[in-house]
Amino acid sequence: MIFPTIETERLNLNQPHENDAEQVAKSLNHKEFSDNTLTIPFPYTMENAQFWISLSQQGFESETNYIFAIRQKDNPRLIGAIGLHLDKNHNKAELGYWLDKEYWNKGYATEAVKAIIEFGFSNLGLRRIFATFFDFNLASGRVLRKAGMVQEGKLHSYTKKGNTYQDHIMYAIVHNA
Ligand SMILES: CC(C)(COP(=O)(O)OP(=O)(O)OC[C@H]1O[C@@H](n2cnc3c(N)ncnc32)[C@H](O)[C@@H]1OP(=O)(O)O)[C@@H](O)C(=O)NCCC(=O)NCCS
Repeated sequence: MIFPTIETERLNLNQPHENDAEQVAKSLNHKEFSDNTLTIPFPYTMENAQFWISLSQQGFESETNYIFAIRQKDNPRLIGAIGLHLDKNHNKAELGYWLDKEYWNKGYATEAVKAIIEFGFSNLGLRRIFATFFDFNLASGRVLRKAGMVQEGKLHSYTKKGNTYQDHIMYAIVHNA
C-alpha cells in the first residue's frame, strides 16, 4: 500500500518525512506536550523527532501504526500529527494526536480526528476506535466529543507518570456495520 493522503476541508494528512524533523522538534519543545501525554519528553530534541519519524515509517510498513502529518492545504509545513495504533486481534485502534501551539483552538484537531475515524472505519475496516487522555486535559475531551466519540468511563490510576498516578478518561466510537 502506498501511504495514503487524506484530504479534509482545510488539511492534508500525509506521511511524515525525515525533513519534517526540525519542525517536529520545534513544535514539541514546550512543556504542555509533555504535561499532557505519556510519551512526549521535555525538552524535546532533534533526535527525539528523528526517532519518532522512523517509528512512524516502520509502523506503516508493519501495518501496526498509521501516523499522519497534519498540514494546511496551502502550506507543506507540518503543524501536528495524528495516528492510529492498531490492535489487530481485536480489530480496534487507539487514537493519538497533537497540534503545534500556534494552531490551537482553530478546529484543526477536530477536523483531523473526524477524518482519521472515517479512514479507520472505511479503509482499515476497524470495529472500534478509542482514545484516553489525562482527566485534566479538557481540550482533548472536547475534540473527541466534537468528532462524535463518547465517554465510556474514568480509568482510575490508569498510569503512573514519575511518582504520580494519573486518572484517564476513555472515549470511543464503534462502527456498526
Ligand atoms: C488537544 C489538542 C490536540 C487540541 O487541538 P486543537 O486544534 O486546538 O483542537 P480544536 O480547536 O479542534 O478543539 C479544541 C476545543 O477545546 C476547547 N478548549 C481549549 N482549551 C480548553 C480548556 N482549557 N478547557 C476547556 N476547553 C478547552 C476549545 O474551546 C475547543 O472547543 P470549541 O470548539 O467548542 O470552542 C491540542 O491542544 C494539543 O496538541 N495539546 C497537547 C497534546 C495533547 O494533549 N494531545 C492529546 C493527548 S490525548
